[in-house]
Amino acid sequence: MTSHFLAIFGNPVAHSKSPLIHNYFFKKMGTQLGVKGCYTRYQLENGEEIKEKFLQLGLTGANVTIPFKREAFLYADRVEGIAQKMGVVNTLVRRGDEVVGYNTDAPGFLEAVKEFKFENVLLIGAGGSAKALSWVLENVEVVNRSSGRLDYFKKRGIPAYSWEEFTPKSYDLVVNTTSAGLTDNSLPLPEPMAREVLKRAKYLVDIIYGKETPIMQLAKEMGLQVKGGEEMLIYQGVLAMEHFLNRPLPREKVASLYREILRG
Ligand SMILES: NC(=O)c1ccc[n+]([C@@H]2O[C@H](COP(=O)([O-])OP(=O)(O)OC[C@H]3O[C@@H](n4cnc5c(N)ncnc54)[C@H](OP(=O)(O)O)[C@@H]3O)[C@@H](O)[C@H]2O)c1
Repeated sequence: MTSHFLAIFGNPVAHSKSPLIHNYFFKKMGTQLGVKGCYTRYQLENGEEIKEKFLQLGLTGANVTIPFKREAFLYADRVEGIAQKMGVVNTLVRRGDEVVGYNTDAPGFLEAVKEFKFENVLLIGAGGSAKALSWVLENVEVVNRSSGRLDYFKKRGIPAYSWEEFTPKSYDLVVNTTSAGLTDNSLPLPEPMAREVLKRAKYLVDIIYGKETPIMQLAKEMGLQVKGGEEMLIYQGVLAMEHFLNRPLPREKVASLYREILRG
């Protein structure tokens, strides 16, 4: 039996579902895999102390959420995989004397949409989530309410437009990465523009989880295949657990456990 001491760092962190899903994993699959673990929350005040706290708490692994993903990248001893390009880390793992950083947010999104057949993608929004997804998607364009955040994409050759500059093309997959619809009933694009984009698309993913947002409702009405953000949350967790245990897992089996506990 190997033991794993895990936590999520963030501020605020009380709302996080990570302890729920990962503790459930250990309860349901721990014995058969020969692992024991417990997963808790830690509200960090100062991101510069992330590695120090990780070591002080005797953790073997951690997830990192807003607002410390950049600090996790900066203070990890080493960063592996797509996180090197992204410059943000959401998973820290103790490997010998080192604290190693990974990112499972964007790879988790890809796992969540693996049954969709798409060639080109429109990301609505230009915040942290859109930035992360832009590293794992090809043939991607960005549209955002304002122009302030577009340079990050343009510098990397990704076409990026404000609403005023945007002329919709044909996209197979449309992803809402904005918080429009999270606590209100707004669409992430003006309605005529949203309809124009959706009428030529096959799939709509909203990364907001826990509710059916107005853009999900509109896309359903227009006949698209629709997915909410729960699946991205689930698969980033599955991939993080693989890093914590340092071994591949039966992903679909673990994902269905996480689905089961999240749906209560
Ligand atoms: N499923 C998951 O695992 C997962 C993971 C991470 C985040 N999320 C969700 O993703 C959402 C965004 O997170 P984030 O960290 O990327 O946020 P962020 O960095 O704060 O960026 C927010 C983006 O949304 C746009 N926006 C906000 N309100 C809008 C509105 N009413 N209409 C149109 N655009 C609007 C902003 O446009 P401006 O630039 O014009 O302000 C900006 O581009 C949150 O709802 C969060 O819950 C889900």
